[in-house]
Amino acid sequence: MSIAYERHPPQLRMHLLDPSGGLGYHWRALRYRHHFWAPFISTVAGWLHAWQPPTKHLVIVGPSAGYALPTPFLARFGQITVLEPDPLARLILRRRLRPLRLEAGTLDCLSDRDGPRWLARQYPDASLLFANILGQAPPLTARPDWAAHLRDALRGHHWASWHDVLSASTAPRVDAATPLLPAPDIATLAGRLWHWPTEVCDHDNFGLVGRQDALALWQLAPHQWQVVEWGIHHPATGLGDPAAG
Ligand SMILES: C[S@@+](CC[C@H](N)C(=O)[O-])C[C@H]1O[C@@H](n2cnc3c(N)ncnc32)[C@H](O)[C@@H]1O
Repeated sequence: MSIAYERHPPQLRMHLLDPSGGLGYHWRALRYRHHFWAPFISTVAGWLHAWQPPTKHLVIVGPSAGYALPTPFLARFGQITVLEPDPLARLILRRRLRPLRLEAGTLDCLSDRDGPRWLARQYPDASLLFANILGQAPPLTARPDWAAHLRDALRGHHWASWHDVLSASTAPRVDAATPLLPAPDIATLAGRLWHWPTEVCDHDNFGLVGRQDALALWQLAPHQWQVVEWGIHHPATGLGDPAAG
């Protein structure tokens, strides 16, 4: 147990302007959700439908207004906690998902090294869903060992994440509805999708859950494409846990 773990849990700081969310993200959702985003939202719905964690409580980290969260998936849980610093997102989310009851938590599980341990400790019986936040470089993800630390802290939980692994402002060789094959490494994946010397940004979190369950393309805006990875960790079997070898 580290000394920092003895402190109070880090608290979310409310914001409306954030590089990974806020007003800019709502504006994009308003414009592109039913068009450019539609194939990706449908893919995420399929991933979530197939994920069957055996808990009554779900904690969602970074849900925004739930643009990619289908109600039938959420309705499976008796208790839902959202960790989301954007107050407008929480307001829209509550309205969209009525009559489901959502509770807003205050823990910032991504602000420092002990955030994931606080998450595991505060929600010992919940499944945890990182909803496209782990590729967005909050302070924790800037640390070189953060992914190993996150996996270690959450090894006893059912958890899953979809997160950006690559992005580019040039169209890839395939369209957004084309399923992407598994890739052994990030260079192979980038090489399959873009011709050299296209500038492609590596979000440094390929394989972060410990295994890769799926990949998909998301056209975020007319000139912005993301490659998104989906991974699931099952504590009982050790699947997805690199420590299990
Ligand atoms: C890229 S958006 C993804 C939104 C949504 N899950 C989706 O797929 O449409 C990332 C979200 O994470 C939120 N966020 C930023 N920092 C966070 C933190 N430390 N903890 C929880 N959520 C955070 C942002 O406010 C934003 O709503």
